[in-house]
Amino acid sequence: MDLFEAMLTRRSARKFTDEPISDEMLEKILRAAMAAANSGNQQPWRFIVIDNPALRDRIAELDIERGGYYKSPQLIVVCGDIGSMKWKMHWLADCAAALQNLLLATHGLGLGAVWQELYPYHKRVAAVRGILGIPETVYPMAVVSIGHPIDVPEPTDRYDPAKVMSNGWIAP
Ligand SMILES: Cc1cc2nc3c(=O)[nH]c(=O)nc-3n(C[C@H](O)[C@H](O)[C@H](O)COP(=O)(O)O)c2cc1C
Repeated sequence: MDLFEAMLTRRSARKFTDEPISDEMLEKILRAAMAAANSGNQQPWRFIVIDNPALRDRIAELDIERGGYYKSPQLIVVCGDIGSMKWKMHWLADCAAALQNLLLATHGLGLGAVWQELYPYHKRVAAVRGILGIPETVYPMAVVSIGHPIDVPEPTDRYDPAKVMSNGWIAP
């Protein structure tokens, strides 16, 4: 799929078949994620792939208040390893760039995914840290449900010229 087609047609998938993504595709997706722009090339991102059904269900059923996380054969928990960084304040931007690449690569392969926030909800971060044995110097920032999608929403065109200004801020 062409890059622009991928960017303009990607939507969040929230329903998946039981078929897992192959290791080969998963590696392709993670390679794309790790190709992202990042501050000082520190690459603080870490990815925990969860395919153990019991563990996956514990994560999926977390935070029932918000309805849990969407179930898929694999989940990917995206983390920022602050302990590895000299310039720590950039970790969230770096991980977000990687995660956007991950979503686009997934879509480009005909698969689907949805980004579900953990950070900055400290209760969610603590719960996921506890289940996965993540150290305090590492921040889990999102759970990505990923797989072969069912029922993906139609692409929408969100281009809005009113959100583009020229040579300064113009109050609406
Ligand atoms: C920072 C961030 C947090 C998100 N958190 C959730 C979430 O917790 N649950 C969810 O279903 N979708 C979540 N999403 C997906 C958004 O709801 C979705 O991207 C948005 O509605 C636009 O729809 P689209 O992805 O289909 O284009 C999140 C997206 C981002 C970037």
